[in-house]
Amino acid sequence: MAKAADFTIRLDDLGYEAGGRPVLSGLTLHSSARRIGVVGRNGSGKSTLARLLAGLLAPTTGQVRVAGIDVFRDRRAALETVGILFQNPEHQIIFPRVSEEIAFGLRQQGLDKVQAAARCEAVLRSFDKPHWRDAPISALSQGQKHLVCMMAVLAMRPRLLILDEPYAGLDIPTRRQLGRYLNRAGTHLFHISHEPADLEGCDQLFWLDRGQIVAQGAPAQLLADFTAEMNRLGDLDDIADLAG
Ligand SMILES: Nc1ncnc2c1ncn2[C@@H]1O[C@H](COP(=O)(O)OP(=O)(O)OP(=O)(O)O)[C@@H](O)[C@H]1O
Ligand SMILES: [Mg+2]
Repeated sequence: MAKAADFTIRLDDLGYEAGGRPVLSGLTLHSSARRIGVVGRNGSGKSTLARLLAGLLAPTTGQVRVAGIDVFRDRRAALETVGILFQNPEHQIIFPRVSEEIAFGLRQQGLDKVQAAARCEAVLRSFDKPHWRDAPISALSQGQKHLVCMMAVLAMRPRLLILDEPYAGLDIPTRRQLGRYLNRAGTHLFHISHEPADLEGCDQLFWLDRGQIVAQGAPAQLLADFTAEMNRLGDLDDIADLAG
């Protein structure tokens, strides 16, 4: 694995339009922090940013580079480098059984069947879920499906892990287990959440509002400002503002 200092995320004048209107505009972000956090309210563009950073959407303007890789144009290198946990597990799951789902990404990375099975077993064991191996995913709860997706992406050992609301729907023991696992994994994290408490442990934070970065800095000050602003908006009588 390359040294942390070699690893930089670079968004340059990034813009994305959908349905004829800008979802993100003029995003410039350069960071080598290990844990980057993005906070923003519903509809601010967080999930769109996650997909752009994973190379799954074509930028309308500008560029996304992760460790020097243009993640949209160089898909092969991007697959080795960036993993994404989608906000909605239904957008991620393709296969009927847990082991198939976890093995799929590994096979795409070039592991053979035996290697993929061993990696799958290891990740299941690290979350105390070896008995899930042959379980049908459709029979799992929403939070359990979310954990399957998390295990599938962790098994691929990406250098950068993009987590879009990773704790939503997970119970307290599972969150704690996951938090420990992520600390141990040593991978770079791009953690997206609308919930300030989730992001307290980040090294650098960005606040996204209406598709733009409106503040950046250390968690303590930025999260306090964000929380104050969210409370102010929530106390307004004008419900129209909630539509964003
Ligand atoms: N393909 C698309 N077509 C039209 N509008 C889109 C498309 N993708 C995103 N948008 C719009 O862009 C805005 C940002 O969406 P996005 O899902 O990125 O927000 P978010 O910050 O992740 O919100 P949430 O906190 O609810 O998950 C929304 O208004 C959404 O309707
Ligand atoms: Mg979202």
